[in-house]
Amino acid sequence: MPARVAVLGAGFIGARHLKNLATMPDVAIAGVADVDAARAHEQAAHYGTTGYGDWRVLLERERPDAAYLCLPPCAHGEPEEALIAAGMPFFTEKPLGTTPDLPERIAAQVQARGLLTSAGYHWRYLDTVDRAREIVQATPPRLAMGYWFDYVPPPAWWLRRERSGGQVVEQTTHIFDLVRHLLGEPQRVFAAACPARLAQHPEADIDAAASATLQYPSGAIAVISSTCVVHYPCRIGLWLYAEDLVVECREFSLRVERPQGTETSEPTVDPFLAEDRAFIHALRTGDRSAIRVPYAEALRTHRLVMRVVEAAQS
Ligand SMILES: NC(=O)c1ccc[n+]([C@@H]2O[C@H](COP(=O)([O-])OP(=O)(O)OC[C@H]3O[C@@H](n4cnc5c(N)ncnc54)[C@H](O)[C@@H]3O)[C@@H](O)[C@H]2O)c1
Repeated sequence: MPARVAVLGAGFIGARHLKNLATMPDVAIAGVADVDAARAHEQAAHYGTTGYGDWRVLLERERPDAAYLCLPPCAHGEPEEALIAAGMPFFTEKPLGTTPDLPERIAAQVQARGLLTSAGYHWRYLDTVDRAREIVQATPPRLAMGYWFDYVPPPAWWLRRERSGGQVVEQTTHIFDLVRHLLGEPQRVFAAACPARLAQHPEADIDAAASATLQYPSGAIAVISSTCVVHYPCRIGLWLYAEDLVVECREFSLRVERPQGTETSEPTVDPFLAEDRAFIHALRTGDRSAIRVPYAEALRTHRLVMRVVEAAQS
């Protein structure tokens, strides 16, 4: 029997996971839910399943084996708690929420139930990131510079701090996750944010830019900066500097410069498909070893991001 998987949230990333899940012979889509019922129906019709305007009705009627949470950051909480109460494994998109407390509470419940979870920090599945990790483990960086310099994405919720958490929480979290994966946990966190209004988005109350400086027990420093004022994704990734070494780690490329020469490569895996395969494999077999970011690990990244937000505010 295929695993019956429901998708909650039929927007951009929900559609991407649905597309992946539909390619898997051992998965049946057990319904799609979205508060925008027309969106849910449209995606559901595409995959020959039922659309719902309320995820609670979907869970009650379909009783799926697992669920994907592809919701705006502010919509987390009640769905996770319902899934945990039902003992239902879930994949959640990042970020885990917009505040420090809610993900802590959910993580405790996940742990108490021993529930299978996975979080959408898809960069972790890039083979170029595996390679970057090998390199920096052999030659520890003294400085890392991370960037998320991008335009304002389309969803209206993104511009409101209460709904998205702001750019650091919603987007740059990928870079904070990557720097944790490559350099470990920082000892000290400093941050500042630029609260200037976005001229083209008068409804926005998020910061226009932010920068965090992290210091590691070794003394190494990482500076992670964000802005959404530019008109295209002009700089997104992590640059690492060690003795006679520069590593430029981006989503679609890895560049390693040494005095002897430069090596460039591109990922050979689709990281979204890889994370979906890992979750479905674990769901079907009980073998969780391919899941690189379960909820508890995503929580550690969320904690770091919350430290940055806190530091910028204070
Ligand atoms: N891993 C990645 O690279 C990546 C990429 C894009 C988005 N995301 C994350 O995925 C999440 C969704 O982003 P998106 O771009 O798909 O947004 P989106 O706005 O396109 O889609 C979200 C959908 O959720 C629906 N929704 C809102 N509240 C709901 C609720 N309570 N119940 C059911 N549906 C609800 C909305 O109507 C919308 O259709 C965000 O947290 C975002 O950070 C991750």
